[in-house]
Amino acid sequence: MIDFTNVIVALFFTIIIVIFTYYKKRTYFPGPEGNFLCGSEVELNSPKVHLHWVYWMKTYGLIFRVWSWWNPIIYVCDAKVITAIIEQKLPKHGGFYEGFRPLSGLGLFSQLKESQWKHDRKIISEALRDKNSQVEIFQKHLNNVSAFLKNNDHREVDFTKLSVLFTLDIIGEVLFDCDFKSLERFNEKLELNCPIYVHLQNILPELLKCGVSPWRIKIPIFSSTRNMLRHIKELQRYANEMIKLRTELESKKECLLDTLISEIGTTQSLESVRDHIITLAVAGCDPTANSIVFAMYELMNNPECQEKICKELEANNYISCSNPSEMRNILHRSKSPILNSFVNEVLRMHGPGFGTIRTCPFKMSFTDSNGIGIEFNPGDPLLLWNYPTHHSEKYYAAADKFIPERFIGEVLIEHGSYFPFSFGERRCLGENIALLEIKLVLAHFICHYNFQTKDTLDQQTCFTLAPHGQFRIIFTSK
Ligand code: HEM
Repeated sequence: MIDFTNVIVALFFTIIIVIFTYYKKRTYFPGPEGNFLCGSEVELNSPKVHLHWVYWMKTYGLIFRVWSWWNPIIYVCDAKVITAIIEQKLPKHGGFYEGFRPLSGLGLFSQLKESQWKHDRKIISEALRDKNSQVEIFQKHLNNVSAFLKNNDHREVDFTKLSVLFTLDIIGEVLFDCDFKSLERFNEKLELNCPIYVHLQNILPELLKCGVSPWRIKIPIFSSTRNMLRHIKELQRYANEMIKLRTELESKKECLLDTLISEIGTTQSLESVRDHIITLAVAGCDPTANSIVFAMYELMNNPECQEKICKELEANNYISCSNPSEMRNILHRSKSPILNSFVNEVLRMHGPGFGTIRTCPFKMSFTDSNGIGIEFNPGDPLLLWNYPTHHSEKYYAAADKFIPERFIGEVLIEHGSYFPFSFGERRCLGENIALLEIKLVLAHFICHYNFQTKDTLDQQTCFTLAPHGQFRIIFTSK
């Protein structure tokens, strides 16, 4: 006979423990209460979630907790705590990166096996090293952009698309020695027929949602998730085709793709090479293209900045320079401080890569910037999030204003409060190449064109911070 009294007592205590744990977690860190059942899931999945992050940071402080259903997410925007977490090398949070796995798979971004990650990071960073040949590739594609603009003189061009197309072409050639021919897909009527672009548009908005709520992948009840998975399959097919074509080629090239292929059967599998191609193409293209759009917007919004950068480039004879090493030299922060501070401020205000998600392996104590002790619990997801940090008045006076001068001269930016490329050993692998591309592109447009727009630029959270809708620019040659 079952003793029902014992069952009822056990059930009673279980319910008490669940409710107690839940309420203890509720008072864990301050934050929005949200809905009792789903917490702040609606805000977390909104395309304007970046505005909520800033609002929550201003209302609840530099460390705040948000509920995704019954799971707490802890946003860390305190420079001192961020630095300590990075220094202690806390691992990436398995649960969250599981949500990015459908796209990134065994690629570097979501690779959590330490030894494989170390090996892959080493060979990929070696492939990204040679800057002079990269400058030549950048210049070649910027000439293609010039030819495109010449054909469309005095016409409005949707720059959000143009930026993705030439960045894809550049990444394809720099990393894989492959000609994606994306820009060619923008036809005379300015209609776009680029499958990779369409795949990205269908994948990225849903991907961030799957990162925040990985159950969306496990139980794909939403048609948007199933649609994303279909488009990922198409990208995988495309990457497999690239591997097949390259494997069949007799002569090998000195590029990352051939190095990865040569390791199939030892440290790589067909699947991992495919995933590296996709991860690098997406990570390399999307945030860089978005940064260039934001930078162009700020140039047009701040004509005095544009003029100062133009004078700086003229003083350095940039326009008559064609030697890659000299070009890199001129664009270095020591020679072009105004251009560099401008780019830094663009990435502070509109940094497209939000940060990194770490996990707390055991109970850990830290001291925050105010000298107050704080504690994290095992398994806590810690989002080291730059968007709210970069918009905090504690670290940036007049944080909502675009002031590049804050990065010039004796810079008083607190360590841990500026990290558009994350930091520590899992920082962005493409930081140098992205900065080089952004500066080369801006210098090219500033030296060769007058540009204007009637559009205002709207932003949305779409895996990265991205432009929303069209942003049309008219370019006229100088
Ligand atoms: C403005 C442009 C870029 C921004 C703002 C950016 C930002 C970031 C951030 C914040 C991370 C850390 C993500 C995390 O820990 O979850 C990251 C990682 C990464 N980025 Fe970038 N990125 C940019 C461009 C690039 C480019 C051009 C490439 C490749 C050519 C690239 C490749 C990667 C890779 C492979 C990782 C993963 C590194 C690892 O886990 O070891 N990124 N990026």
